[in-house]
Amino acid sequence: MELSIRPLSRSLGVEIGGLDLSKPLDADTVEAIARLWHEHIVLLFRDQDMDQDEQLRFAGQFGKLGERSRPADRRPEGADYNASIMLVSNVRENGVPIGSLPDGEMWFHHDMCYVESPHKGTMLYGIDIPAQGGDTMFTNMYEAYDNLSAETKRLIAGRKALHVYDFGTAGPVGIDGGYQQFKHYFQPVAITHPVTGRKALYVNPLITARIEDMPSDESDALLAELFAFTENSDILYQHAWRPNDLVMWDNWCSCHARTDFPETERRLLRRCTILGQPLHEN
Ligand code: SIN
Repeated sequence: MELSIRPLSRSLGVEIGGLDLSKPLDADTVEAIARLWHEHIVLLFRDQDMDQDEQLRFAGQFGKLGERSRPADRRPEGADYNASIMLVSNVRENGVPIGSLPDGEMWFHHDMCYVESPHKGTMLYGIDIPAQGGDTMFTNMYEAYDNLSAETKRLIAGRKALHVYDFGTAGPVGIDGGYQQFKHYFQPVAITHPVTGRKALYVNPLITARIEDMPSDESDALLAELFAFTENSDILYQHAWRPNDLVMWDNWCSCHARTDFPETERRLLRRCTILGQPLHEN
């Protein structure tokens, strides 16, 4: 099958046309998609009509699926949803959210960077989309690394950073009260992508708390410098959602964030993830 490909920005992202992802794909097509994914980091497929099982079948062709740690009776989605599905939504039924990550802006982050094996990829499927706002922004962390000065590259070489998940969505992580009570992990400040072999900056303003073995004022200053590279608009693609969009991204070499949106508007997306592996600098 002939795939049509349209770049989404100078730095990252392509839209792929000519596919119905709700139907099984042949091995050559899956391989072609995986190649494009590794090359372009973010893939967009418009006008896909898929239920949760079809989304999971598609995702499962790129690796083992991530599963929620909470049992069905403690997940907001309840038993109607597979353990690999998370609803990202501000919709509330009887005042209770039907999903996670509900409201407003989200700062740039890597999914699951606070565990030993961060997820390789995430897929979001658009269902209800606000008339304005709620865009998802992606930055190319290969280019963020490439853009660092030789001196900064030397300064971060061999360094690790502490990532802490404190459940916030739009504010820096605070560890003055300790971080042991939260999920946390030390990751290399720059990683080598296990598949492409390219070096990517691996810190983000939402979850990265400090550089290991560095006085806190120096760590704060270095992280502020690195976050400016992470949030650089020259290496960004901002996705304005439409219902039936399926977006998949490589979570090892990109960061993502969400723009604010009115709380009066419904936003509902269906998310699943692909498991990863430990990340190393070299
Ligand atoms: C996420 O960080 O996985 C959610 C992004 C979004 O809601 O756009």
